[in-house]
Amino acid sequence: MNQPSRKRVFSGIQPSGVSHIGNYLGAIRNWVLQQEQYDNIFCIVNLHALTLPTTAETLHANTITMANTILAAGIDPERSILFVQGDVPEHAELSWLLSSVTMYGELRRMTQFKDKSGSDEESVSAALFSYPVLQVADIILYDTDLVPVGEDQKQHIELARDVAQRFNSRYGETFVVPAPDIKKDGARVMSLDDPTKKMSKSDRNPASFIALTDTPAEITKKIKRAVTDSGSDVIAAPDKPALTNLLGIYSLFAGISVAEIEERYTGKGYGAFKTDLAEVVVEALTPFQQRFAELQADPAIARNVLADGAARAGAQAAAKMQIVQERMGLSQHRT
Ligand code: TYM
Repeated sequence: MNQPSRKRVFSGIQPSGVSHIGNYLGAIRNWVLQQEQYDNIFCIVNLHALTLPTTAETLHANTITMANTILAAGIDPERSILFVQGDVPEHAELSWLLSSVTMYGELRRMTQFKDKSGSDEESVSAALFSYPVLQVADIILYDTDLVPVGEDQKQHIELARDVAQRFNSRYGETFVVPAPDIKKDGARVMSLDDPTKKMSKSDRNPASFIALTDTPAEITKKIKRAVTDSGSDVIAAPDKPALTNLLGIYSLFAGISVAEIEERYTGKGYGAFKTDLAEVVVEALTPFQQRFAELQADPAIARNVLADGAARAGAQAAAKMQIVQERMGLSQHRT
């Protein structure tokens, strides 16, 4: 239900295979924790997933899996709108309109494009380049106040602010200027095999991330093998990036402060800490995994939620697009 007194939250996630604890701690968990506080819209961004090669079957299956991941994590479709981007064509339409107020140079500066295209600019899709404009459209189409995301999305939200402001000054007040909601903890969960890189689902080494669907044995093995820093003290420090990352994961899943954990493991070494960390992660993910398995066994549940979400998001998007078209002089002649 739309409660105008509450701030509007919008966030999105790509349906690209399994989600990992970085997606959970950096984004989904905060969506759930703040669910009561805000008026929420969460979007499975299947159009964004087209920017890298995929197949129809994969994208379709991943979309349902992502819906079940979000539902199993605790998003309640009665309280929040959950829908699939491609079900609301206004996202793609607004993206084109906004590309006229986005500068080529702004897109060239996006670090995610540079990272994902690497030295291969000739062969990546043009969609990978224009992707941030679609993300801006996602956000500002719903008069969003707050965008809860991980640190890696900060630059894209800043672009959304700039584009919304530019549109407003050119065409008159039309869009709310959104703000990023990035938490101090969990916003940048690092890879288990290289604590200088962020945990990423596109990483070729599956031991570098903990998938939300990993079995207890897999979780334990990955944590045991996670790289550590030199020395043996369980402390978070700038020269101990691996331990800082593992302590951060422990702290968020167990709900206790890093200082308290450091104290608990004084003189105990990495072995005991890692054994307990594995237990903490397994225990925290067990209820999620049970609910996820039930939802995966009955895909009709997700399909119903997504149909309802598309109707609710679609109504808001259509109303906003009418205003945008009028402001831009795009008169309608189709009857
Ligand atoms: P995506 O699908 O890559 O990631 C989804 C969310 O997970 C966060 N995240 C992380 N947080 C902490 N540590 C990590 N290692 C980590 N890896 C990922 C991301 O910051 C994100 O919040 N472009 C977006 C999807 C998107 C979107 C939007 C987000 C499309 N439209 C509108 C917000 C608003 C993306 O690819 O996220």
